[in-house]
Amino acid sequence: MANDFSTRSPAPLTASRPRTPLAGNIRVPGDKSISHRALMLGALAVGRTEISGLLEGEDVLATAAALGALGAHAAPAGGGRWTVDGVGIGGLAEPENLLDLGNSGTAARLLLGILATHPITAFVTGDASLRRRPMGRVVEPLRRFGARFVTREGARLPLAVNGAANPVPVDYRLPVPSAQVKSAVLLAGLNTPGATTVIEPQPTRDHTERMLRHFGATVETEPATDGGKRITVTGFPELIAAPIAVPGDPSSAAFPLIAALIVPGSEVTIEGVGLNPLRGGLFECLREMGADIALLNERDEGGEPVADLRARAGALTGAVIPPERAPRMIDEYPILASAAACARGRTVMRGLAELRVKESDRLSAIAAGLHSCGVRVAVDGDDLTIEGEGGPPAGGALIATQLDHRIAMSFLVLGLATRLPVRIDDAAPIATSFPGFVTLMNGLGGAIRAE
Ligand code: S3P
Repeated sequence: MANDFSTRSPAPLTASRPRTPLAGNIRVPGDKSISHRALMLGALAVGRTEISGLLEGEDVLATAAALGALGAHAAPAGGGRWTVDGVGIGGLAEPENLLDLGNSGTAARLLLGILATHPITAFVTGDASLRRRPMGRVVEPLRRFGARFVTREGARLPLAVNGAANPVPVDYRLPVPSAQVKSAVLLAGLNTPGATTVIEPQPTRDHTERMLRHFGATVETEPATDGGKRITVTGFPELIAAPIAVPGDPSSAAFPLIAALIVPGSEVTIEGVGLNPLRGGLFECLREMGADIALLNERDEGGEPVADLRARAGALTGAVIPPERAPRMIDEYPILASAAACARGRTVMRGLAELRVKESDRLSAIAAGLHSCGVRVAVDGDDLTIEGEGGPPAGGALIATQLDHRIAMSFLVLGLATRLPVRIDDAAPIATSFPGFVTLMNGLGGAIRAE
């Protein structure tokens, strides 16, 4: 089981101010959200899907292994290229053993959507972090298709799913803005007769809709009466295998990008970063904070907008981040908090309730970590306030990363700017989304060491 404290010892790391500025041109690993979906839709297509730039992180490898256990073979072909041999919609087979999705909420929730309308029984689990996370948000709508679930208390993993043999289509309004829940329902709708509709009051990342269309499915979107969006998938499409080029993950690019902004004198270019507008909230915030970021060579790759990002260090000022921006930057708050801690003035991030149910309770983890680094920080309900002094915070703390890759990377990046080094208790979860992170950062001139 990947990254479970019960099966391995933690791997501490320390980040210190580098002697020279960060400099260089890099690429970051493939987009995690798109990588999961490429494997899953490839598994449901007819024919062989070829994927380039797949993220070979533990989360995505967990998806590949689970699909293999369900009878859809996904295999590496070298250099980030993968092939998936699809079994067609409804063609997955009952797995002989537990499906272990490690640390990945996306893998678990999207796969549950697929399983909910396959007439098979599967047992799903994950690591200590994933077993704490709420699955009720997908179990509840998936029951409406006719699937049956047995879960632990609070709808936690491990759970058993018994997919519907004769599913009925569903019309579902998202109670929380979640692309995972939206995707789970749309994926369940694939093996269901008729039209399955999700109504999202606030727009969330639309990679599932884009990729379904790329594979030939009919996905219609129209404005909902309350100002949101109605997204409808028609059941039993024939998904035809189609090549997919996975862009660099903007959520991973955020770490070297903000490192370049807060380590004085730095200039870093990150090539081939996906710039889906529904992932762009962080860039809006950084522009408002006065960051020097240029978008170069903007282009379209495989149905997703892509650009090279050039970041130069400079003074940042505090900003007020509105709650409606949260779905467009939900994974970027920890690293934005590192930037805010180095900015001049107050940054207020509003409406962060969803951060409490990520790989860790990120709202608490950010606040506790910044506080121990000497930053004035307050949590008021779902709002986070960070007082930046316009210079490097003290640092000198040990951060509890709680099996959370983004907390680990955010505090290592902060440690490149603080007056004293920052130590994290466990770097192993970084491999879930950003294999090679430490080597890449040190290649830019960073100083991240095992002691
Ligand atoms: C994801 C959606 C987001 C995000 C996660 C990836 C996806 O989760 O935090 O890292 O790929 O759909 P929620 O849907 O829970 O907001």
